Amino acid sequence: GAPVEVSVTKAEPGQLIRVIWRGKPVWLVNRTKEMLDTLAGLADNLKDPNSENIKQQPEYAKNLARTREGKEQYLVLVGICTHLGCSPTYRPELAPADLGADWKGGWYCPCHGSKFDLAGRVFKNVPAGANLEVPPYYFKDDNTILIG
Ligand code: FES
Repeated sequence: GAPVEVSVTKAEPGQLIRVIWRGKPVWLVNRTKEMLDTLAGLADNLKDPNSENIKQQPEYAKNLARTREGKEQYLVLVGICTHLGCSPTYRPELAPADLGADWKGGWYCPCHGSKFDLAGRVFKNVPAGANLEVPPYYFKDDNTILIG
């Protein structure tokens, strides 16, 4: 199928926008500096902090941000839980009552409670075993991503 074009200017800081690529939901998140700053400290709580065990991920996404270099604020993920395929909910807020005082933002899957951080990395002690998938994408120009 044809690549899907997304203008990153549509996403306000902290906001997630949804597109469909090959029939799959794909998310683009414009992460703030505060959001990016949460990533480094979470390694001990994650199953695969360096995204080494995930099959579905381009080489350029094997870094802390899981993005193209120089465009770390723009996270692109396939929005499908790696457990049994439900749609995780974007929960960017800090320490909400239902997710606890340690929650620094990420995704919560309502089906069986899997949790992912703001780079789509899966937490320990949840049923999902793998980080969320990063699809292939590139920047056509400074403000335009092509997914696929
Ligand atoms: Fe997401 Fe099971 S499908 S936790």
